[in-house]
Amino acid sequence: MKFFIDTANLSDIKEAQELGVLDGVTTNPSLMAKEGITGHDNIINHYKAICAIVDGDVSAEVISTDFEGMVKEGEALAALDEKIVVKIPMIKDGVKALKYFSNKGIKTNCTLVFSAGQALLAAKAGATYVSPFIGRLDDVSTDGMDLIDKIRLIYDNYGYQTEILAASVRHPMHIIQCAEIGADVMTGPLSAITALLKHPLTDIGLEKFLADYAKGNK
Ligand code: E4P
Repeated sequence: MKFFIDTANLSDIKEAQELGVLDGVTTNPSLMAKEGITGHDNIINHYKAICAIVDGDVSAEVISTDFEGMVKEGEALAALDEKIVVKIPMIKDGVKALKYFSNKGIKTNCTLVFSAGQALLAAKAGATYVSPFIGRLDDVSTDGMDLIDKIRLIYDNYGYQTEILAASVRHPMHIIQCAEIGADVMTGPLSAITALLKHPLTDIGLEKFLADYAKGNK
């Protein structure tokens, strides 16, 4: 399973990249705003800065909600760097834009997906990635993982090449469950990724090994 980091924070992206397990980055307008990145030129420069750090796909989201606007914005974003994946919302004009970019060989990430039907449409339109939002479904008492399961089944039934990018991941159990089901990619915060390495028995064991070494090597 590929690991993407879901942030626009350059220091978190650097840390994940240096850990050696990072396969890409996803951003969205809220994550950009959280880092204080506003205004067209600053946002474009921030995408360039992210692309300079990471070896892998970098999702950059369009703001337009009409087909022509999404095509114009998406083409400009894709021209910034070959790592850029144009992130498009799951709305009617978004489906048309996914098909347009697929025909042109430009990579896309269909975002704000909350149902199996939406994921099926995204695959038929040729999306490179589909982003079901697990955490936001959990937030409304609906098991986000059931959706990943359903999409995996549907895509496998027909051999769709669209990759399932489990998004809105909040904690390490989300990552483990995604890997069990067979999501192609997960995107989450640095805290969820680094939480995977924690186990108290590892800490206790290491402390004992080092203490025993110290005793024998005074
Ligand atoms: C996905 O691409 C989104 O940016 C993201 O995963 C949303 O996560 P949130 O629900 O934690 O905001």
